[in-house]
Amino acid sequence: MGMLRIGRFWSVIITFVLLYALIKWGIPAVSREVTDLPFPLPVPGTLIFFYMVLVTIALFLITTFSDEGMEEFVRPIRKLLRGEYSKTARAAVLIVVPLLAGWQVYDLTVPKIELPSSLRIQHPSSNFPKKFEELKNPFANPGEAEVTAFIEQAEAEEIAWIEQVQEDIERWQEEGDADNPLAFIPTAPWKKFLAELEDGDVKLATAKAALLEKNLFEGRALYAMNCRPCHGDSVAGDGPMADGFKLRPINFTDNGTIETIVEGYTFWRVRNGGPGLPTEATPWDSAMPEWKVSLTEEERWKIILAEYDLAEKTPRIPESH
Ligand code: HEC
Repeated sequence: MGMLRIGRFWSVIITFVLLYALIKWGIPAVSREVTDLPFPLPVPGTLIFFYMVLVTIALFLITTFSDEGMEEFVRPIRKLLRGEYSKTARAAVLIVVPLLAGWQVYDLTVPKIELPSSLRIQHPSSNFPKKFEELKNPFANPGEAEVTAFIEQAEAEEIAWIEQVQEDIERWQEEGDADNPLAFIPTAPWKKFLAELEDGDVKLATAKAALLEKNLFEGRALYAMNCRPCHGDSVAGDGPMADGFKLRPINFTDNGTIETIVEGYTFWRVRNGGPGLPTEATPWDSAMPEWKVSLTEEERWKIILAEYDLAEKTPRIPESH
């Protein structure tokens, strides 16, 4: 039909290479379109290996299905070995292939030097920027202006909740206690605030404590949405996904973790995740995501507030204080 026939041998090789390229670069490229993230999601090496084993089996079955197919496949190999293409080509292939195989075996068997695991530094800081050190969580200690604004919002029944919790609050209000539409936070400081609000005499200190409760409420919700799968309900690093990672998600209730670092450092770690770690924290890959991509600064600070609160820990005070 006038179509160029490339022969079975080359079509097998080309199919193999094309499928490899599709898995290695095609899937990450599509993932970028689907997720809208500024980076592609790579296919893990073991998965690529499994796919390629399956591809090899499929190609083997197709080739060996008939005697003609097999014959067509080995024809170019036979021709090469007989020196029918050219003697130089044959010599080159016969030298290069054993050399490559030998190098592969050498590379696999030669002992590698690896650092003992005890050397991993839990809080690597060689690239921790100085400007983060003094950062304070703006939601842990709201100023007078914010507290006054919060009282005004509460009096006008227009408290500005973050959008992620709005739907739940509305549902609660529809189903729950209509007389007391804000009673969904069950803590004592919040109850005291609601009582004062009803009496029309809200004290600044009460409102400040209540605003902290609001921030914690939002922080806990954001934690449950973003961090819980790895760090767990109990913040002990035992979420449903935790077992899947070689470098386990940190247990925040453990004394050696978030308690020993300043807030600014926690903020920086959450912001940059595993990819932001310096070389002394490698070669162990950390699965901790880079949150600067998908959480705003406000959301990150509120989560950190909740994280310390859930773990019943306080951050370390910066040295200069
Ligand atoms: C995909 C799993 C995963 C998710 C989701 C995740 N983390 Fe992590 N996180 C890790 C792993 C693994 C480590 C430990 C390894 C390391 O040191 O980077 C870690 C470490 C940390 C640390 C460092 C603690 C220390 O003592 O240095 C902080 C803080 C942290 N995570 C906060 C968060 C917050 C906040 C969220 C949610 C916004 C979150 N993580 C979501 C996996 C995760």
